[in-house]
Amino acid sequence: MSGGLKLDNIIFTGRTYDEYVRMFNLSADDVAHRTFFVCPGGASSFSAVATRHGGRVVAGDIVYGESRTDLERRGRSSLEIIESGMRDVGDGYHWGELGDVNGLLRTRAQALDTFLADYETGLSEGRYIPCALPSISLEPDAVDMVLSDHLLFTYPQFFDEAFHVRSIEAMVRIAKREVRLFPLISSASGARPPSVEAVVQHVRRMGWEAVIETVPYHFQNGANEMLRISKPA
Ligand SMILES: C[S@@+](CC[C@H](N)C(=O)[O-])C[C@H]1O[C@@H](n2cnc3c(N)ncnc32)[C@H](O)[C@@H]1O
Repeated sequence: MSGGLKLDNIIFTGRTYDEYVRMFNLSADDVAHRTFFVCPGGASSFSAVATRHGGRVVAGDIVYGESRTDLERRGRSSLEIIESGMRDVGDGYHWGELGDVNGLLRTRAQALDTFLADYETGLSEGRYIPCALPSISLEPDAVDMVLSDHLLFTYPQFFDEAFHVRSIEAMVRIAKREVRLFPLISSASGARPPSVEAVVQHVRRMGWEAVIETVPYHFQNGANEMLRISKPA
C-alpha cells in the first residue's frame, strides 16, 4: 500500500466516460436502460457522453450553477495542481491505465473539455444541478442508480463519519435500486478509511445489502474496489 496525491483542498477534476464504465462496472444495458444520479459529477465527461448516446443522467456538484468560465478556471487550475503533485508519487499508481503523467493530464483535460462543452445546455435542461452533500434535493426513488466517486472515503481528512453516513442515507433515499461508491481508499494515504465499515454496517441496519466488489479499473494502488449498495429484492 502506498500513498497518492496529497491535497490541501478538494479539486475540481473529472474522469472520462470510459473510466466511469470501468470504475462502476457498468454494463451497456445499465447505461441504456437505467436512470442515474452522479454526485459529485465534477468535470467528468460521463454525463455528456452518456446523454449523447441516449442515456438519462443527472449530475450534481457543489460548484454546479457557477458560470462556465469559472468552472473552466477551476478545472484548468486543478490540472496544474495534479501536474505538480504527481511528480512525487510515481510508484503509487498502475501506469498501465493512463500511460504516464502526461497521459493522465491529457485524459483529465479531455474529460474537462467534454464536460465544459455540455455544461450550459445541461444546466438549462436540469441535467447538471447544484448539490451539496450530505443533502440531495431530488425526490425519493428519483433514479434507478446513484454513482458517487472520489469524494466519500477519498478525503477522510475533510469529512467525518457522520458526513459519510448522512450522504449515504440521502443517496439510498433517492435510489430505486442501487448506490455504487468508488474507490474505497483515501487518496492521500492509500489505506481504507474506517468510514467504509461504518457505512457498510449502517446500510445493513437500514435493510439494504452492501457488498464490496473488485472492478476492472485500477489506477491508484489499492483503488480497484467498489461498494455496491442494493435494495433487497
Ligand atoms: C475529485 S472531484 C471528482 C469528480 C468526479 N466524481 C470524477 O471523478 O470525475 C471532487 C468533486 O467533489 C465536489 N464536492 C466537494 N464537496 C462536495 C459536496 N459537499 N457535495 C457535492 N460535491 C462536492 C467538488 O466540487 C469536485 O468537483
